[in-house]
Amino acid sequence: MNKSLRKAVIAGNWKMNNTPSQTTALINEMKPLLAGADCEVVLCVPFIDIAAAVEAAKGSNIKIGAENVHFKASGAYTGEISAEMLKEAGVEYVVVGHSERRQYFGETDQTVNLRSLAAINAGLKPIICVGETLEQRELGYTETLLKYQTKMALTNVTADQLKDVVIAYEPVWAIGTGVTATADQADEGNRYCREAIAEVYGADVAETVTIQYGGSMNAKNADELVAKENVDGGLIGGASLKAEDFSVIVKAASK
Ligand code: 13P
Repeated sequence: MNKSLRKAVIAGNWKMNNTPSQTTALINEMKPLLAGADCEVVLCVPFIDIAAAVEAAKGSNIKIGAENVHFKASGAYTGEISAEMLKEAGVEYVVVGHSERRQYFGETDQTVNLRSLAAINAGLKPIICVGETLEQRELGYTETLLKYQTKMALTNVTADQLKDVVIAYEPVWAIGTGVTATADQADEGNRYCREAIAEVYGADVAETVTIQYGGSMNAKNADELVAKENVDGGLIGGASLKAEDFSVIVKAASK
């Protein structure tokens, strides 16, 4: 195992928070705090905030991401946004298959896969979310489920394309609840995802894939989580809405 083969990525997922003017203000507050980070720093923002975010982040080390992408290139899909549109708007990353989309908006493993392929083909980097519910964990299905979701999401993704893919292990029971997985639980979940990749692409390839942990990661627990062998950064919800807290997490991943 060699963690140095992988790039740590700290990505904020703002979810449905911040207007364009609030976006500009928050990124301007973050920029000096995040300068000099020794990891990839990404802010995934609502579609309507992308233009403001790209403008505010200009000349800084902050990359901008979206929170979803449609899987078709264009057409009669009212209300949807294509990968090409995101790319032209200056987006580099996109969250795919977040549990809130799986839970509330009918996202399936198949559509997660199609969205991931659309993103990759347009030159975007998908941050693909996988994670078990509390019920699935208590029934003992965590490993099976994480491996299944990971393999399904990566169907038809080539080994070469994996360099542009980030996996985020987000146990559903830890999202927005204040209940964080222990560092060992996070490491184990991430290891299952890595093993799934190894089963399909081989161990050497799996060693190079960035796998984040997400779920109530904050300024207090980030150090311990990102120090784990299989944890290559984090996908941060609530704490990415506060410049100071987010910068502490970025510093933890920069050590
Ligand atoms: P919280 O950090 O608010 O628990 O959210 C995690 C998450 O869902 C990031 O995508």
